[in-house]
Amino acid sequence: MPVASHISEAMSSSSFIRRMFEEGLMMKSRFGADNVYDFSIGNPDLEPPAKVARMLAELGTNPKPGQHGYMPNAGYPETRAAMAKKVSGEQGVEVSADRVVMGVGAAGAMNSVLKAVLSHGDEVLVSAPFFPEYAHYARNHGGNLRSIPSREDFSLDIASIEAAISSKTAALIINSPNNPTGKIYTSEDLAALGAALARAKSRTGRSVLLIADEPYREIVYDNRKVAPIFPVWADSVVVSSFAKNLSLPGERIGYVAVNPGCAWAQELTDAVIFCTRVIGYVNAPATFQRIVAECWDEKVDYSSYLKRRNLLTGILDEAGIEYAVPEGAFYLFCKVPERRATAGDSADDGAFCDQLKAHHILGVPGKGFGKPGWFRLAYCVSEKSITGSRDAFKNARIEW
Ligand SMILES: Cc1ncc(COP(=O)(O)O)c(C=O)c1O
Repeated sequence: MPVASHISEAMSSSSFIRRMFEEGLMMKSRFGADNVYDFSIGNPDLEPPAKVARMLAELGTNPKPGQHGYMPNAGYPETRAAMAKKVSGEQGVEVSADRVVMGVGAAGAMNSVLKAVLSHGDEVLVSAPFFPEYAHYARNHGGNLRSIPSREDFSLDIASIEAAISSKTAALIINSPNNPTGKIYTSEDLAALGAALARAKSRTGRSVLLIADEPYREIVYDNRKVAPIFPVWADSVVVSSFAKNLSLPGERIGYVAVNPGCAWAQELTDAVIFCTRVIGYVNAPATFQRIVAECWDEKVDYSSYLKRRNLLTGILDEAGIEYAVPEGAFYLFCKVPERRATAGDSADDGAFCDQLKAHHILGVPGKGFGKPGWFRLAYCVSEKSITGSRDAFKNARIEW
């Protein structure tokens, strides 16, 4: 039985990140882990808060009756209530527990939302560069992702987004702090975006659902704050997870929160619950719902990410590689350096990542993020690995 052709096609053009990650594992077994500088994937290397391990031990030793059973598809009421408290604080808008649906990571939560709102042929807009999986998520549910280049400083190009909205546009995804740029959108820009969405609605007769994908919300530098979206546009949802802030990516625990100001909030929430079920997730993982209900506000020290950012930017400065200074998250988006006069295409990010790989550095080409000529380094890795990469970056640059 052959694999469906659209899946074969998607697989062959798919995830540089995963490919690099898997290549990194092979290189580490061949050359030794200390001799490979793997900046390919956003897998946080901080340990989760100690309370997570304590709760796991407690749930293992003193299990509650029915602890592993099915539950309401939206999740445990106490977990939904805890998420509602979290989101209310972040958005400055009172969100009740019945506006929260627990999801299988931010990725699962996003798929539940997109399935709920997309009809065949609908468009989902996103500002480029963007997290590459969005294109697959839109396609999973009959939609097409359409990317709109950001401004030069990686902020939203609101005029271009507005101009791109048509009656086919079902949703707009924003991601702040951004993967791969680390950009945080300002509250002024978000207010302007809300006004643009209102104008577009009057023009097309269709309201665009604004989806804020926020798994990096807590990981910010220099006391920056991530501005809320609920006050600027009523037809909006927040999608998030505990993959990055609590270092639990393998546990697949996330959520969707629907703006209570949305006129069809109940219908949308019900649809997200239904879609979570019929995609086959059924519900978010039970054990980690119990854990995040009590650990969501654990204090985590992210200063080591700042330290790593500064270490890596110092090394790139020495090597002569330019980058955008991230305001949050743990990615450095870097410009492919000018090539020596005699060589070929100077902005070829794939070729430059191959050059880095020859020096045992794994980065991800920008074209996968919708931004050729750039590449991404994930610096959620040990300081030792960052420090060890100094000569490799210098030599890769010299030979380019
Ligand atoms: C922007 C963005 N959204 C969503 C996800 C998926 O997060 P999760 O592991 O919680 O599904 C990631 C993971 O790297 C991401 O970078």
